[in-house]
Amino acid sequence: MADAGLISLSVEEGVAVIRIANPPVNALGAAVRAGLADALAHATADPEVRAILITAEGRTFIGGADITEFGKPAVPPTLPELIAALDACPKPVVAAIGGATLGGGLEMALACHARVASADAKLGLPEVKLGLVPGAGGTQRLPRLIGAAQALPLILEGTAVDAAQALRLGMVEEASEGDLLPAARRRALALAEAGGALPRIRDRQDRLGPREAFEAAAAAASKRAAGNPAALACIDCIRAAFEKPFDAALAFERETFLRLMQDERSKALRHVFFAERAIARIPGQPRDVMPRRVGRAAVVGAGTMGGGIAMVFANAGIPVTVIETAQEALDRGLARVAANYATSVQRGSLLPEERDRRMALIEGRLGLDAAATADVVVEAVFEDLGLKREIFAHLDRVARPGALLASNTSYLDIDAMAQATGRPGDVLGMHFFSPANVMKLLEVVRGAATSPDALATAVELGRRLGKVPVVVGACHGFVGNRMLARRTAQAERLLLEGAAPEEVDAALVEFGFRMGQFAMIDLAGLDIGWRVRKATGKTAPVADALCEAGRLGQKAGRGYYSYPDGARQGVPDPAVHELIGRIAAQLGIPRREIGREEITERLILPMIDEGARILEEGIAARPGDIDVVWLNGYGWPAWRGGPMYHGDVLGAATVARRLEAHAERSGDASLRPSTALDRLARDGQEFGALARATA
Ligand code: NAI
Repeated sequence: MADAGLISLSVEEGVAVIRIANPPVNALGAAVRAGLADALAHATADPEVRAILITAEGRTFIGGADITEFGKPAVPPTLPELIAALDACPKPVVAAIGGATLGGGLEMALACHARVASADAKLGLPEVKLGLVPGAGGTQRLPRLIGAAQALPLILEGTAVDAAQALRLGMVEEASEGDLLPAARRRALALAEAGGALPRIRDRQDRLGPREAFEAAAAAASKRAAGNPAALACIDCIRAAFEKPFDAALAFERETFLRLMQDERSKALRHVFFAERAIARIPGQPRDVMPRRVGRAAVVGAGTMGGGIAMVFANAGIPVTVIETAQEALDRGLARVAANYATSVQRGSLLPEERDRRMALIEGRLGLDAAATADVVVEAVFEDLGLKREIFAHLDRVARPGALLASNTSYLDIDAMAQATGRPGDVLGMHFFSPANVMKLLEVVRGAATSPDALATAVELGRRLGKVPVVVGACHGFVGNRMLARRTAQAERLLLEGAAPEEVDAALVEFGFRMGQFAMIDLAGLDIGWRVRKATGKTAPVADALCEAGRLGQKAGRGYYSYPDGARQGVPDPAVHELIGRIAAQLGIPRREIGREEITERLILPMIDEGARILEEGIAARPGDIDVVWLNGYGWPAWRGGPMYHGDVLGAATVARRLEAHAERSGDASLRPSTALDRLARDGQEFGALARATA
């Protein structure tokens, strides 16, 4: 036997049990593959053996391919070779699936003659998240098992389903409530007893389902997947199941997999996958720190954010008290929450009972004393430091000892809020993004005094809330908004120099953002930025003039675009072009035609420069953390890996040189590269060299 430690084979009453033990996740590394192939050959040759079971130790059946082998030459037997051997086995093989069965693990199970899952099983093909397609038959066998239209979303989103869903979809033949192995053994013996040809998924072309249903789903999915090479390739592979014989379609899938391994966009997606894992490692945190228990939450303020954050808690099953100063504001806030849930029910994405259960977890109260029972308080009142300090001082008096005191502030000084309390170690930022119940990003802002266990609590809570928590340092705007401010400033400046709003937006959409800068501001409302500028004494001539003219965005029917008759898609407005021209003339800024490339670079490169400063100051621990912020909070296209990854693809020297050239040409000195970027450019280093922590 190739490696007896990893794979064991035992025969009992005519059934061979092949057991995988390769902790932590039973990944399909070369030694495991060789051991499995060997055990399968032994069991096939053994005349005592009538049927074969494949099972695994631990909480995972098979976690998938061994990603450390990615990019290295393949060591035989390859996964497709192993799967071909399973497929060709003359004796019935049953996969006994307990725990997570992902990627190559599921592909193996699909080549077996039956699948029995335990109640804790999770099955999925997450390859698309690594910028790949399933490369060992997943795109061919899953559609032939459950139908192409049903397989499409599973393969395209890469999300795993649980045992009950798997049974409903037909991915497994049996979901065992009790012991997995006896159930799997019974099934294997039944197959042996039945005799005749073994049921092989490869032969089930008939189960693909109607081509039209697949094409309809594929058309909608292609739109959403625009620019994501892996997602589009998944669609092509599934389509091949209709168009080619099984072996040819399998070969097509393999070619596609190998091509994507080399694709730059696919490499960027793999970077994203690893960057999202790396955020869990928080520099400076002691290893043994224990998060505090959170059983109850309070949210102060029932405005846009407060209402959304309350929903986030309720959605995670955590009871939450929403606190306002006046009944009217409270009623308005809770009515908005109810309306939001009603929309989900109407759309069919939420069951009415589930809505009722969630609504019952949300309680409205007046006055901060109602925060006394909460284990975490999230403050989401107006963006006003004086008010927030008052609230933190009050919370200090009433909150239970050990309660986490968090602010949802977008820009303000967390330390100033902490100092308003006698327990600064419990204070931090939990910066949600709008709409809070939808957006995945959570910036967890570590103040100067934030204690390790308070930080750990916020991060763990963030995950429990279904968010992607990224720990950032305290500074004006933290990571995301601080970088966005550079893009916003250039967008405004480009208008004055001669670009139209629609040209600026088109550049961003072409780059891969779903929405342009100005369409986004129109949607959010121009008054938000206006208020911030007034409070901080800043100006933005075009934006200010639009606000003064009542052009507050989509809700006003006009902003950077006009929205005739309540249209959601704005149309370019000559009145805006004229207004911009007038302001540029007043300011003496000469106007010219600005090419697409210059627009794109001036929007994107200053953000990368700001990222360099953020790393140098230690506000973000790693370039990848900044990428995760932009991917989950600001719609940065995943296949471009994030702003800092993009910066490395271009090279710091190129970024610095282009910024210098744009500063020269436009006369805008704010475009000059920072000393941090200059240093990287000079030394030919990557952005990671600026990171203080290499954890
Ligand atoms: P909002 O104006 O919609 O809501 C603020 C709410 O706080 C109002 O309902 C107000 O009645 C209530 N409030 C004021 N003083 C209070 C007090 N003493 N006790 C209880 N409630 C009080 O504001 P929004 O947009 O929800 O913003 C709230 C916070 O979230 C701000 O710090 C903002 O910077 C931040 N934020 C806003 C985002 C957005 O897109 N709107 C995104 C992320 C953060």
